[in-house]
Amino acid sequence: MGEGTEKWIEHYSSKQKILLVGEGNFSFSLSLARAFGSAANVTATSLDSRGKLERDYGTEALTNIEELKGLGCTVMHGVNVRIMSRHVNLCSKRFDRIIFNFPHAGFDIIGKEYDSSTIKKHQGLVRGFLENARRMIDVDGEVHITHKTTDPFSRWDIEDLAEEESLCLVKKVPFYKWDYPGYVNKRGSGSKCNSTFLLILAINDYNNSLRTFILYILYPISEFNI
Ligand SMILES: C[S@@+](CC[C@H](N)C(=O)[O-])C[C@H]1O[C@@H](n2cnc3c(N)ncnc32)[C@H](O)[C@@H]1O
Repeated sequence: MGEGTEKWIEHYSSKQKILLVGEGNFSFSLSLARAFGSAANVTATSLDSRGKLERDYGTEALTNIEELKGLGCTVMHGVNVRIMSRHVNLCSKRFDRIIFNFPHAGFDIIGKEYDSSTIKKHQGLVRGFLENARRMIDVDGEVHITHKTTDPFSRWDIEDLAEEESLCLVKKVPFYKWDYPGYVNKRGSGSKCNSTFLLILAINDYNNSLRTFILYILYPISEFNI
């Protein structure tokens, strides 16, 4: 990918074909693009339409999107991770990295995070994402999910969901927001859609455990590595 010097930001390189899904205000995509100096290798997507992004995040998302496009990024809206492998503009493409930061099924439709029905809804979203991402990664590609690891989020059982979709955990690494300058993580739905949520090591409000954030790096299980 590209002839220039390879540039890295954490796990991501300007030589990788990168697909980002479930973006909020597109600041994570933009952080990668700025680090690379070009985003010709990046496809950044949201479930929300451009109009909804403007309503939810004000001009911030649109400004980020314009800068991304200026750097050569492919930006797409209305991309549902549950069916994205059949999307007309994605179905023929393969990616080296597919990234979903902080998947969440939404605050509008669900009860408390501890409810088993809520957890099932989140798991349905992650399962749908993994099933589709598995079909869209290139040889030696990886699927990345960032997530909270404390209860009740640990009950999503991301590793088990991945195995069900023939993806195995390569490693879990701590996720630090400050590694991605400009990234402002968003709640992404509900009345506080545009609010951020704490992404620093902190004491969990619920049970005094340490709150941590983890990046799951998943790799396809094939007949060669089982
Ligand atoms: C907690 S927010 C995280 C937003 C963003 N990734 C970030 O880190 O700031 C969860 C995101 O998941 C997205 N999402 C929920 N269901 C989705 C689906 N079926 N397909 C694509 N994105 C989805 C929402 O639109 C929202 O942007």
